[in-house]
Amino acid sequence: MQPTLDLMSPETRANPYPLYAELRRTGIRQVEPGGLWAVSRYEDVAAVMKDPRRFSSEGLARGFLPPWIDRNPTAQSLVVKDPPAHTRLRGRVARAFGPAALNILEPKIRAIANELTHDLLRQAEAEVDFVEAFSLRLPVRVLGLLFGLEADPYPRLKGWADDLVSIPAGQHPPEEQARIRQSLVDMERCFEDIIEARRASPGDDLVSELIRPADDGSVLTHEELISFLFSLLPAGVETTVYLLANTMYVLSEHPEERARVLADPRLIPRLIEEVLRYEPPAHSSLRLATEETEVGGVRIPSGATVVVLLASALRDERQYPQADRFDLTRGGQSHMVFGHGVHYCLGAMLARLEARLGLEALFPRLRDFSLAPGPIAWSRSLIARGPLALPLRLFPA
Ligand code: HEM
Repeated sequence: MQPTLDLMSPETRANPYPLYAELRRTGIRQVEPGGLWAVSRYEDVAAVMKDPRRFSSEGLARGFLPPWIDRNPTAQSLVVKDPPAHTRLRGRVARAFGPAALNILEPKIRAIANELTHDLLRQAEAEVDFVEAFSLRLPVRVLGLLFGLEADPYPRLKGWADDLVSIPAGQHPPEEQARIRQSLVDMERCFEDIIEARRASPGDDLVSELIRPADDGSVLTHEELISFLFSLLPAGVETTVYLLANTMYVLSEHPEERARVLADPRLIPRLIEEVLRYEPPAHSSLRLATEETEVGGVRIPSGATVVVLLASALRDERQYPQADRFDLTRGGQSHMVFGHGVHYCLGAMLARLEARLGLEALFPRLRDFSLAPGPIAWSRSLIARGPLALPLRLFPA
């Protein structure tokens, strides 16, 4: 009998990479929680993500709708649909994330990044929680822009995003389950209000764009619109919060690279790509095997839930020589972190833009920074990984 491996154990949450290495060595096998089939090698991860017929995103839908939840629109959203329903919906929403939309957003995001940097540096040399003061605020404010909300709108958005991300494969005591159910109700009410307001007075935001009929006259149903907005919380907030926080964490552990990027902000895009590979904010996704099938020489039964370990693929030696080394000279973009195939992240360009503008505002104003000693509490999610708090000491330039 193989020993039990648990993706959610405290040791794995603190450092999942040894377990991923073990899984890549042994190949596809079942793990905890819930006997998920773990796919860990680059080649196998790519094969599963590329094949929505054999590996349905219904696996993700089930993750978002455990028996203790009656209704969660995320479980009907774009990211959990398979072709052809997915193809139609994606065609309809993709334009809202294209270059034209990003051009409108860029100056607004830069202004937010400058404002947050200014506020952050007022606390310089004292210990400051970078997540609370910066990395959380930037994506939440950007989501506010997408929703067309005024100023810093909903501190609750982050709490809701946390709740949503924690649902798949999370173990929640009854009082937490009740809180999450209430969050789902509150979110839906909030999104209904936003949609109504944008219908009454459309702007240049994402919600207004999604309400407008497409060139062929087709419109999104109310349910499609609501569920898409739901999916943007885990997809667009959590991941970007952790991208920024993981960047500061990794740099605090790598003084030479820290000195290089602080001295030369032109290295920021390269830094972002290597952080996306080395300490990725998205660790996995879920799929459902629609038939008995074989991947990497292992038979997977029909109806099995598969956990696709993107973060493990990004440390696969066969794909990345010296994969456990953080290396700013590595070329190329870490596409797998944004998924692969039909569900490739719609927000990939936006996420990179947010991270770049955030760091471009911050780095020229810093001489150095350091991480306060002590253990870090990492997110308790199977899907997104990053520190819940990151106590830093900042030294202004
Ligand atoms: C560093 C930040 C981000 C990472 C690592 C990331 C990662 C991912 C991954 C892995 C998927 C594919 C999931 C699957 O196949 O099951 C995905 C899909 C998606 N992401 Fe992102 N994401 C990020 C930022 C964003 C942002 C900022 C937005 C929008 C505001 C966004 C919106 C979406 C949407 C709508 C999908 C579904 C696409 C589809 O199903 O066709 N993401 N993302």
